[in-house]
Amino acid sequence: MEELAFPKNFLWGAATAAHQIEGNNLYSDWWEWEQRGGGTEPSGKACDHYRLFEKDFALAQKLNQNCHRLSLEWARIEPAEGKWDEEALEHYRTVLESLRQKKMKTFVTLFHFTLPTWFARKGGFEKRSNLKYFYRYTKLVASRLGDLIDFWLTINEPSIYIGSSYLGGLWPPQKKNWFSALKVNFNLVAAHRNAYTLIHRIRPRAKAGMAMNISAYHAHGLFLGTFLAKLIKFVTTDSFYFFSRGYHDFLGVNYYFYHQLSWGDFFLFRKLKLKNIQQTIMRERSDLGWPIYPPGIYEVLTDLKKYRLPIYITENGIADAKDKLRAKFITNHLCWLHQAIKEGADVKGYLHWSLIDNFEWAFGFKPRFGLIEVDYRTQKRKIRPSALVYAKICRENDLRKTTNQK
Ligand code: BGC
Repeated sequence: MEELAFPKNFLWGAATAAHQIEGNNLYSDWWEWEQRGGGTEPSGKACDHYRLFEKDFALAQKLNQNCHRLSLEWARIEPAEGKWDEEALEHYRTVLESLRQKKMKTFVTLFHFTLPTWFARKGGFEKRSNLKYFYRYTKLVASRLGDLIDFWLTINEPSIYIGSSYLGGLWPPQKKNWFSALKVNFNLVAAHRNAYTLIHRIRPRAKAGMAMNISAYHAHGLFLGTFLAKLIKFVTTDSFYFFSRGYHDFLGVNYYFYHQLSWGDFFLFRKLKLKNIQQTIMRERSDLGWPIYPPGIYEVLTDLKKYRLPIYITENGIADAKDKLRAKFITNHLCWLHQAIKEGADVKGYLHWSLIDNFEWAFGFKPRFGLIEVDYRTQKRKIRPSALVYAKICRENDLRKTTNQK
C-alpha cells in the first residue's frame, strides 16, 4: 500500500481571525465601515467567539487538532491611541492559556485585515510614519503574550489586503489607487521586518513569519501567458519574499486559488483588475464559485522549495454550506500536499480554514467555511461530517484510512 503517513510531529489544526468570529469589534475600521453600510451585512455578534472561545477550542481538541491559528484584534488591545485595554490583554492571555492547557500549539496573527479606527484615520499602512504604532503594538504583544505564542504571523495576506483595500476599492478604505497600493506594499514589508526583529529581540526563540496567499498559476497559450503568470506570481508573492528575505523563520501559505492566464488577458488588461481572473477548466466549484484545484497546492509547495524554509499551510478551505465537497476537498489537497513532502517540500503543518463558520468579509455570513456549523441565531455549534473525516486524519497522522483519491 502506498505510504501516506505524514512526518512525525506534524501539526494539524484550523485557522480563524478575530473580526470574523469574535463579535462586537467596536473600535476597528471594519466595524465603522459596516455601520456606514459597507459590505453586504454588518459583522455584529458574529460567532460570539469572544465569549464562547473555550467551547470552540474544546471542539477543536475533540476533533484531534493539535494546533490552532487565531488573530489578535489590535483595535481591542489599543482602542484609542496609546491606551492599552488591560481587560482585552487579559482576555487574550486566557485564550492562549486555554490552548496551552489543551496542548495545542498557537499560531498568532498580529494583523488580519482589520485596524484600530484611530490608526486607519491616520492613514493606516499607507503612511511610513505610522509604522511606529504597529511596532509599539507588536512590542506590547511580545512582552505580555509572547510566552504563549509558538508561531508568529505578523501580517495576513498582504496581496489580498492591498488588492481589496487599495486597488479593488472593495474593503475599507476603498481606494483604487496604484500609488497608494505600492506605498502600502512597501510599508507592510517594512512593518514585517521591524516586527520580526523586535519579536526576536524580546523572544529570542520565537518563530516568526507571515501568512501569504499563494495561488497556482497556469499559463495558457504561448509566450505571453507564461510571462503574465510569472509576472503576477512575482508581484504577489516572490517580490514580497525578496524584500523581506532573511526575515522568515518559516513560510505561512494560504492556498485557495487557481488562475489560468492567457495572452488574451495581457491585451485585455482591464480583466486583471482584481476581477476574478479564474477562467477555468474545473468542474467543481465552491459556493463562492471558486474552482477547486487540489494539485495547485502541490505546485505552490514545489515552487516554494527554493526558499529552503519550513512551510506551514496556514489556510486552505472551501465555502460549502451543504458540506458536500469539503471532505473530498480536504483529502485531495492533503494527498497532493503529501506528494510535495515526498518530493522534498519541508511542510510541517496544515491548518484548515476554518474551525467554525464565520463572517466572510464583504460577502457577509452566507459563505460557510467551517468544519463546525454555526447557527447565528442561537450560537449553537454543530460538527459537520467532513470535520470527522479531517479529525481522523489528524488522529492517524496518515491518509491511508480515509478516501484516497488524487
Ligand atoms: C483570509 C480569510 C478568509 C478566507 C476565505 C483568506 O484570504 O485570510 O480571512 O476568510 O481567505 O476567503
